[in-house]
Amino acid sequence: MFTPAQIEAFSNLKTPFYFYDLDLLRKTLDQVKEYGLSKGFHVHFAIKANFNFRILELIKEAGLGIDCVSGQEIERAIEAGFSPDQIAFAGVGKTDEEIQTGLNHNIFSFNCESLQELEVLNNLASEAGKTAQVSIRLNPNVEANTHKYITTGLNENKFGITTDKLPLLFDLLPSFHSVNLTGIHFHIGSQIRALEPFVQLCEKVNNLQDLFEQKGFELEHINLGGGYGIDYEAPDEEPFPEFKSFFELFEKNLELRENQQVHFELGRSIAGQCGSLISKVLYIKEGIATNFAVIDAGMTELIRPALYQASHKVDVLTSSKPEKTYDVVGPICESSDTFQRGIQLPEIKRGDFVAIRSAGAYGEVMSSGFNLRERVKAYYSDDLNQ
Ligand code: LLP
Repeated sequence: MFTPAQIEAFSNLKTPFYFYDLDLLRKTLDQVKEYGLSKGFHVHFAIKANFNFRILELIKEAGLGIDCVSGQEIERAIEAGFSPDQIAFAGVGKTDEEIQTGLNHNIFSFNCESLQELEVLNNLASEAGKTAQVSIRLNPNVEANTHKYITTGLNENKFGITTDKLPLLFDLLPSFHSVNLTGIHFHIGSQIRALEPFVQLCEKVNNLQDLFEQKGFELEHINLGGGYGIDYEAPDEEPFPEFKSFFELFEKNLELRENQQVHFELGRSIAGQCGSLISKVLYIKEGIATNFAVIDAGMTELIRPALYQASHKVDVLTSSKPEKTYDVVGPICESSDTFQRGIQLPEIKRGDFVAIRSAGAYGEVMSSGFNLRERVKAYYSDDLNQ
């Protein structure tokens, strides 16, 4: 995964830092183009997964749009050169200011998550003399079989409008003159590795689309959200997920109407595998049942293990000695600041470099200043390869 030249270059950089393999991102985007865009699907990158301009630049060049969940993300997408008509805006708690940001830019779609939000949007659009393009985010009650913190499409989740509210929605919609219903939106969760939940989603979408039609609402687009997962255990064997079967599943199972557009909002599957958190080993401490490798990156740089019990592969970059057992831990004053427990790694010593893999999505963007830690830098393969 890392070339000797890259590892050599790392030794001159202050650790920890994020490293992005832009060639891998290009290859991943080529897959999305081949199996998604070229089939007529519209793909919005979920900018929450990674908002670095260098990443966004390649995503824009590939022809993707953006999915946002805050006003700041809309501003960032526009600054990165995306056209407002490629921007979808979801989120259960859009503030008036954020809605106004979306209105000012005439974005492609407000993905509305409650009837009250729809009413507020209608009022704000009317005040601004605009018509907001709206997609209703529906909660399809589909089990995504993923970690409960990243499950979003069940009745117990705060996201979307549950289908029991549809009669009310159908009654209200004609009185909202400043919103234009253009589509329906779904997002059932994240890090979904099996295709089955998406097949179930398609069934729900088909039924709901029939219902909207019966009530006289024609939908220009269907937005299926994101959620496709990546292989955290073996990032080198599966550097990007199988996009072919993902997109084909929707081609096969969705009952589309003529000229109906299909949109996706993919985050992790696009940016996840191209990023690594590079860190230096500070101390090796012998424990009772294991050895602690204390590294200089912590949950402040990558919170996923502490927050979701996520497992990111740890590669040792500067040792090929026989293996020993380690707990790889960070320097933060929390026991959850642990990247891996009881894993076999080539024997490491103070000063060795490790790479925490598959950290390109929800890594750098979720870093915090806890313990007054500084935000770390990002480096890119295009700059370090020479
Ligand atoms: N669309 C909406 C409305 C979303 O809420 C999300 C992610 C996506 C699309 C993109 O999902 P993806 O394709 O990346 O799975 N921080 C967590 C993940 C939270 C995902 C939140 N929503 C993690 O590190 O696992």
